[in-house]
Amino acid sequence: MNRPNKAAKDPAARDLETWRALWPSEKPEQSVPLLKALHVLTREGTLNADSRRKLTQVLHLTQMLRPALADLMKDDASPILADVGAGKSYLGFILYDLIFGPAGRGSVVGIETREQLVASSRDLAAASHFDRMSFIAAPIAEATLPGGKADMVTALHACDTATDDAIRFALRHDAKVIALVPCCQAEVARLLEGQSGPLRQLWRHPIQRREFGAHVTNVIRGLVLEAHGYKVRVTEFTGLEHTMKNELILAERHQRSNAQARGELNRLIDQLGITPALLDVMPA
Ligand SMILES: C[S@@+](CC[C@H](N)C(=O)[O-])C[C@H]1O[C@@H](n2cnc3c(N)ncnc32)[C@H](O)[C@@H]1O
Repeated sequence: MNRPNKAAKDPAARDLETWRALWPSEKPEQSVPLLKALHVLTREGTLNADSRRKLTQVLHLTQMLRPALADLMKDDASPILADVGAGKSYLGFILYDLIFGPAGRGSVVGIETREQLVASSRDLAAASHFDRMSFIAAPIAEATLPGGKADMVTALHACDTATDDAIRFALRHDAKVIALVPCCQAEVARLLEGQSGPLRQLWRHPIQRREFGAHVTNVIRGLVLEAHGYKVRVTEFTGLEHTMKNELILAERHQRSNAQARGELNRLIDQLGITPALLDVMPA
């Protein structure tokens, strides 16, 4: 008689198999306490739908960042990654667990305004012996890392203009790599409201204004980074079934500035007739 295997009837065993298959580590069981502490896995080892989504997103981003992190590790004995708008620091913890911890060097700093989240992240980092992980409880705009340097800056779903603060932070800290997965965005839609000009049909209706505004925001972010000498790739982040906020802007610095991108940005701004606050990073 065929006996059903344990994974087929036990949800915890089935979920453990699922995330072990996702988990790009040779010793996945070592990550179980961390994933339970992050509530990605329940005490029984099951995954709920939200955890599955979050885990898929963060692992996907981790894989997309691996090549850039490998380059940083090659060039620098102790690269610093700042994850801003960190929330519960899923991304920082998982990057540390899978990359910085095994490498035995480099550090991860989480920046988050909510002190409660920072306190619990500090506790978890201590309990996990993640000695090169630290946290700053402050708005991104006010945070400065010791030495004023960050090699990579990540911002995963940093709300509204917090993604712009992440860009300012990255430029201020002379980051070599910037990875942004923007969240909702309202500023540009607000600026477009009532704005006339040849393109006005693109934002006449509120729902289209919101979507067009969010799209234009990310176009401007990309051009701002290009104008600052970054090579910018914009790709789908992960499947739409995992998140609606699905655009990854990955910027890697390769020159000090780019006059052509600056010209394109100026032309776009002129055509739209708006001045988003992020343009404050553009030298006059
Ligand atoms: C949607 S959550 C995303 C959290 C995390 N990156 C993730 O993907 O799980 C956005 C987080 O950014 C934080 N945040 C928003 N604006 C911020 C700012 N200006 N400075 C620091 N943190 C900010 C919020 O408190 C919140 O925890």
